[in-house]
Amino acid sequence: MKLKVYIAYPIPESVENFIAQHCEIHKWDGNGRVPTNILIEEIAEVEGLYTSGSMTGPINEELLSHASQLKVVSNVSVGYNNFNLAAMTKHNVIGTNTPNVLNETVADLAFGLLLATARRIPELDRFVKEGNWEHKTNYVDLYGKDVHGTTLGIIGMGRIGEAIAKRAKFGFDMNIIYHNRNRNADAEKKYDAEYCDLDALLRKSDYVLLMTPLTKDTFHLIGEEEFKLMKETAIFINVSRGQTVDEQALIRALENKKILGAGLDVFEKEPVAPDNPLLKLPNVVTVPHIGSATAKTEEAMAMRAAENLVAVLTGKGPIDPVVN
Ligand code: DGY
Repeated sequence: MKLKVYIAYPIPESVENFIAQHCEIHKWDGNGRVPTNILIEEIAEVEGLYTSGSMTGPINEELLSHASQLKVVSNVSVGYNNFNLAAMTKHNVIGTNTPNVLNETVADLAFGLLLATARRIPELDRFVKEGNWEHKTNYVDLYGKDVHGTTLGIIGMGRIGEAIAKRAKFGFDMNIIYHNRNRNADAEKKYDAEYCDLDALLRKSDYVLLMTPLTKDTFHLIGEEEFKLMKETAIFINVSRGQTVDEQALIRALENKKILGAGLDVFEKEPVAPDNPLLKLPNVVTVPHIGSATAKTEEAMAMRAAENLVAVLTGKGPIDPVVN
C-alpha cells in the first residue's frame, strides 16, 4: 500500500508524477495559502507533507497534534524558519529543505537588487516611461551610486553568500568583508573576503547585504542601533527573511536619511501590506520574495523536495535533513 502525502505547494507535473510512483497524492488545488481547517483535516491522514512556509505557515505543536501519521515535512525552500524543530523532534517528524540548487539564482537576484537600488533603475525607468526625460534640465538629479570598486559587507557567508561574493569580486572588483557565525576559509581564500565583527562591517560597508537564515539569534539582527552604525551613503539589501530586520527601524533609517537606500526581497509580513511605508519611499526597490524564482531553479527545488519526501517515506532516510 502506498503511503499518503499532502502536496500543499504548486508542483510541476513531472515532479508530481515522480511522487505518484511511490505515494498516494492528496493535493491543494486552490489559490494561495491552504486554509487552516483544510490543512488540519488533510494532515491527519498523511505520512508526508510537501510545502513551504508561505503555503502552510509554521509546522508547530498545534499543527502536529493533528498529525499522528506524519513522518516528514519536505520544504521546497532552503529556508526552514517555518519549522518548529523542538515540536517536530517531539513528534518524530523529519524536516528537509532544498539547499544548493538555488545558490546561483538567489545570488543573481541579490546582485540585481543591489544594482537596481544603487543606480535607481526602477525609479528612472518610471521617469522615462512617464515622459519626464525631455523636460529634464538637471542631469545631476539622475545620479546613482557606483558599485564597482566599493566595499560589500555580506552578513551570512554560507553558500549563497559565497555566490554573491564571487560576483562582487570578479564582476565588480569589490572589496568583500563578511560576518558569519563561523569563519569561512574558502571565501577568504577565493574572494579575499575579510572577516569582521558585525559593528565593524556596518561601519565600513558601502553595501550591507543580509543573507543570514532566520533563527532565534538572527531575529531583528539589524535594528535602530545597527542602522546608526552604517554610512549615510550605505545601501542595505535584504535577501534573507524579513524578520531578520526591525522593519520600523529600517523605515525610520530611510526616512531620516540615516542610510541612502534599500533593496528588499523580503518583508516582516508577507505579502507586504499595500500601506507599508516602504512602498512609498523612492529610495527603496522591492520584489515579492523571488530569490529562487526562475523556472529552471524552481523545478530543481521541486524535484529535490520530492526526492527528500520519497526518500524518507521509502525508508532510505532524508537527503537534506535539517539540523539546527
Ligand atoms: C528560500 O528558498 O528559502 C528562499 O527564500 C528563496 O527565495
